[in-house]
Amino acid sequence: MTRTAKFMKTASALVFLFASGVIAAQTSAPVKNSVYAELAKAPKKASARRNPLESDPQAEAAGAKLFELHCAECHGEMAEGGKKGPSLRADEVQQSSPGTLFWLLTNGVVRRGMPVWSKLPEPQRWQLVRYIKSLAIALPLPARAPSRPTP
Ligand code: HEC
Repeated sequence: MTRTAKFMKTASALVFLFASGVIAAQTSAPVKNSVYAELAKAPKKASARRNPLESDPQAEAAGAKLFELHCAECHGEMAEGGKKGPSLRADEVQQSSPGTLFWLLTNGVVRRGMPVWSKLPEPQRWQLVRYIKSLAIALPLPARAPSRPTP
């Protein structure tokens, strides 16, 4: 290989590395910045879990009461988002499976201010999931995620 060819090879490798770094940074930025990013981290097995209270006629109302008691202070009375917690009417939350939401409640996102709710008995956590899921249809409040800065 001639010197020039060698140089060209190294140079193009560097350009490639640089470019892919830039692309990677751009494509991963919105996910990283999203306040809902944690939902995407639920293990497959946890996400696939069915809500055992899916057809319990009382679960939604019970969940609403639990929400007022434990969650409204941060997420707002109508789960529309508050000073301390994001809206739970956002697509990211509404499109998450019941199992994913259950997993999130069980584990919290402690380092970012979302408490762990494993101290609530499992049925109560599933009731909360039923309530959260009911919000998609209940009220025509903003269903969008808060806008995030464009990278
Ligand atoms: C002390 C304030 C606080 C309380 C109380 C609270 N949350 Fe949160 N919650 C947060 C914060 C902050 C986030 C954003 C976490 C993040 O950045 O990932 C969040 C996020 C969430 C999310 C979205 C997942 C995500 O990654 O952002 C769901 C769903 C949720 N909370 C449900 C609940 C439910 C249900 C309750 C009541 C049992 C509750 N929260 C109580 C502060 C709170």
